[in-house]
Amino acid sequence: MNMYDIITKKKHGETLTEDEIRFAVNGFTDGSIPDYQMSALLMAICLKGMNDAETAAMTFAMRDSGSIADLSGIPGLKADKHSTGGVGDKVSLLVGPMVAALGVPVAKMSGRGLGHTGGTIDKLESIPGFSVTLSNEQFMENVRNVGLAIVGQSDDLAPADKKMYALRDVTATVDSIPLIAASIMSKKLASGSDVIVLDVTMGSGAFMKTLPEAIKLAETMVKIGEASGKKVYAVITDMNQVLGTYVGNALEVREAVYALRGNIADDLKRTCLTIAGLMLLGCKKAKSLEEAMDALEEVLNDGRAYRSFLAFVAAQGGDVRYIENPELLPKAACKRVVKAEEDGYLLSVNAETIGRSSVILGAGREKKGDPIDMAAGIENYAKVGRRFNTGDELCVLYTDREESLDAAEALYRSALSFGALPVCEPTTIYGIVDENGFTPYKYNK
Ligand code: URA
Repeated sequence: MNMYDIITKKKHGETLTEDEIRFAVNGFTDGSIPDYQMSALLMAICLKGMNDAETAAMTFAMRDSGSIADLSGIPGLKADKHSTGGVGDKVSLLVGPMVAALGVPVAKMSGRGLGHTGGTIDKLESIPGFSVTLSNEQFMENVRNVGLAIVGQSDDLAPADKKMYALRDVTATVDSIPLIAASIMSKKLASGSDVIVLDVTMGSGAFMKTLPEAIKLAETMVKIGEASGKKVYAVITDMNQVLGTYVGNALEVREAVYALRGNIADDLKRTCLTIAGLMLLGCKKAKSLEEAMDALEEVLNDGRAYRSFLAFVAAQGGDVRYIENPELLPKAACKRVVKAEEDGYLLSVNAETIGRSSVILGAGREKKGDPIDMAAGIENYAKVGRRFNTGDELCVLYTDREESLDAAEALYRSALSFGALPVCEPTTIYGIVDENGFTPYKYNK
């Protein structure tokens, strides 16, 4: 077997065998296959695609390239969730404690923000003292005692994906459904949970720009789950505008804390109830999604989810005074209120552009390793369908870099388009994909 023949086969659109896929993934991971050959194979996959069996084989080869977390020491079924990326996406901060409060352990590895999307690990690090690295023993103990632990991905988790993603990033081969599915699922399967709920975002701020593409990605990942013996659901959610109100690390933690105390934006609530509900359903803690969502609404309203978040923060060394009083969280030195310059209805928002505006303010990083400003970000009132009069507040920009305000404001304004006629508010959730395929969303939460 050699890489030249494997590349040639895929170039002609032929199906690769499991052995060929393992040969390529293992050889690239151990360095015996060079970047230029892997790049050629990735480009051929991008152009010719892979069938379900090939995609599953690639996922499993990538999963097996490092260690696989053994969560068997934690009793019961364990649940995990993952988002394909968004702007203002603080869902993990909420669903972890909500689900843990109802007795389902959540052992989660999360990533950092890159480009226009944020990352849970950066958000948690805005809480003074919070540690995103725990020893294996401490991680397991926290999941057993508190029901929830969230840490950064260990270097040993799916190392093939780390190398392949870095190559895809510079060879224009990120936007391939089988490659995205294999990348995400290899890490999720290596994380060891029994039930995985995927938040597949769709729209201007997401990888998937259209509903058919989002459904295809969701179906591909659910099929990989089936082939691996795990229960996987995917929820297709809207990312055509900011989720909730805030974008930025400390700002999103603050929003999450108020949300866990019951003061939660409608779109964020619906998203969290649905994702957390599927985690409970998959772990057999509810007979239906409706029943699960009712129970979750109760833990939001009666303070159990909030108390679970407090216990989780304390167990990872975070100073809970910042949670009890979120106004203590890092605050930016400068702020600017951005006001509407015309009357009209907000017709559309480019969520990616808003995310990029928050990066300029310091809330995100352009490239891996860049420093971020925990207090920077955007308080956003510009929701599609809302009417604004000249002078109404669209958003507030927060930053320590005063010199960034003009560029951030200009970019933010360029993301919005107004018109004279009213438009409907966009859907928050388009549907759910499970092993039976796509079902349009029908719940009235
Ligand atoms: N997120 C990932 O982890 N991998 C991809 O390929 C795309 C998004």
